[in-house]
Amino acid sequence: MEIISKVADLQQKIAEVRASGGRVGLVPTMGALHEGHLQLVRRCVAENDCCVVSIFVNPTQFNDKNDLLHYPRTLEADCELLRTAGCTVAFAPSVEEMYPEEDTRVFDLGPVAEVMEGRYRPGHFNGVAQIVSKLFWAATPDRAYFGEKDFQQIAVIRSMARLIDSPVEIVDCPIVREADGLALSSRNRRLTPEQRKNAVNISATLFKSRTFAGNHTVAETLAFVTDTINAVEGLEVEYYEIVDGRTLLPVSDWGQTDYIVGCVTVYCGEVRLIDNVIYCR
Ligand code: PAJ
Repeated sequence: MEIISKVADLQQKIAEVRASGGRVGLVPTMGALHEGHLQLVRRCVAENDCCVVSIFVNPTQFNDKNDLLHYPRTLEADCELLRTAGCTVAFAPSVEEMYPEEDTRVFDLGPVAEVMEGRYRPGHFNGVAQIVSKLFWAATPDRAYFGEKDFQQIAVIRSMARLIDSPVEIVDCPIVREADGLALSSRNRRLTPEQRKNAVNISATLFKSRTFAGNHTVAETLAFVTDTINAVEGLEVEYYEIVDGRTLLPVSDWGQTDYIVGCVTVYCGEVRLIDNVIYCR
């Protein structure tokens, strides 16, 4: 595995792969890699001749300075994991390399970027669009892999790709969970043992809500999830929304569409966790 930090060197490497007819896959990450990321990497390795994994904590997508400051950085361990997973190139650029000058682009991402995370983290998705578009340009992949853990992010990236006429095929991959159900996240490392114990109630409640939804309305299911999680000491729901899986707009009736997803954000102490559950697809 090669570790590359310059865009020009990455482009050179990709040109070599292309010259021999190779296919390129990209897995964008912010590092602190875990099994959730590695699932994307393994799939990328299996489906392409060259698998590029980017590791870059993108400052423009953090609307909370404290979150950026505390974001875990474990480059050496990450590279070891990537080597074992069969990755071809780890691309770990500096901030100056990705943003030689301020990125003032504002993407018109549409309603998918305005709801839920868009409402609570203003500017976040524009920052995601900025960095992912730069990575698409730097790596010119045939395919790029994203996790459904960040359900809304995938919709936003599809919207960005349409805006810039990108031919990259966006591949979505299912959520990877701990044995007890908690969705894997780099932020889980910041939980105290006590908080970690409480956090399991997030996924457990989402799973239970699938059965609950069988004989209750959307409004009742919304209340069930919010109240059940809020009843746990140390957990506080920021939002729970039940939305159309394509438009991300709220649904009011289970029969309204054939693709329905529940998306939740919960504060566990200072740590902001997200998760989602698919009611039908
Ligand atoms: P990061 O949070 O590091 O996640 C990188 C990719 O891994 C994302 O596509 C995310 O959805 C996926 N992922 C994380 N945890 C997962 C899990 N438990 N199961 C399945 N997939 C999981 O998302 C970002 O970084 C950034 O916003 C990025 C796209 C890299 C742009 O900076």
